[in-house]
Amino acid sequence: MTRTALVTGGGTGIGRAVAARFTAAGDRVYLTGRREKPLREATTALGELAHALPCDNTDPDRLAAAVAELPDTIDVLVNNAGGNTDFDLPEPDGLAALARRWQANVNANLISAVLTTHAVGDRLATGGAVVHIGSIAADQGAGSYGAAKAALAAWNVDLAKQLGARGITSNVVSPGYVEETEFFRDRLTGDRVGRLVDATLTGRAGTPADIAETVFFLASPGARHLTGQAINVNGGAHTSR
Ligand SMILES: NC(=O)c1ccc[n+]([C@@H]2O[C@H](COP(=O)([O-])OP(=O)(O)OC[C@H]3O[C@@H](n4cnc5c(N)ncnc54)[C@H](OP(=O)(O)O)[C@@H]3O)[C@@H](O)[C@H]2O)c1
Repeated sequence: MTRTALVTGGGTGIGRAVAARFTAAGDRVYLTGRREKPLREATTALGELAHALPCDNTDPDRLAAAVAELPDTIDVLVNNAGGNTDFDLPEPDGLAALARRWQANVNANLISAVLTTHAVGDRLATGGAVVHIGSIAADQGAGSYGAAKAALAAWNVDLAKQLGARGITSNVVSPGYVEETEFFRDRLTGDRVGRLVDATLTGRAGTPADIAETVFFLASPGARHLTGQAINVNGGAHTSR
């Protein structure tokens, strides 16, 4: 059966790999993102099952307009859009700037997922799946970014309770360091990469495909009793019992 998936932030990095995993399985995928260019490049590369839906998932009006173009039924929602907005903002000078920095990360990583999930909530199919992309930062700390991802995981528990009665699962996949993304902009030094890889038990960086495979499994028939969880995909850089 062909499913329909919505992947936010699907033009690059992890989101693009998630979209590729679903199209490879014959599923139809809608990709959001603010920049048209990477979205068009991704949909061209992924073929006719992939559709670009340019949109800022933190903007209620733009999101509502984009969602109006979606089919009536969504089987899989992947709230992947986000990143550490501290990379794009100056060091805070005063309380107003500090507030802007924190609000930016909460908007990008939490509010985007909350708004998108609510916007398509009525369309989520019975037996479907919602997957949010969290971060190892939720457990290890990284200022407002880690706090926003921790809030995403807390909200996921509430969402799983709400959706459970409809047979819909909701989980967080929490990556550690993942290479081949735009996450770090151009700020990652070789030393820092070395430390991130050394922190893993597998001795390597994560790849977008590592994350995509876990997302795909969570949306599969074999994962229908798996919900309300945060699943670490980090090569053991952070372990849980
Ligand atoms: N890479 C890592 O090491 C790592 C580790 C842990 C968690 N993560 C998480 O993984 C997710 C994907 O990031 P990535 O690593 O693949 O980095 P990425 O390549 O920068 O991907 C982020 C994507 O999200 C889109 N996006 C950001 N804000 C958006 C918004 N408001 N509305 C719509 N789209 C938006 C971006 O496109 P536009 O800029 O065009 O909107 C971009 O395509 C993020 O949630 C990130 O926090 C990444």
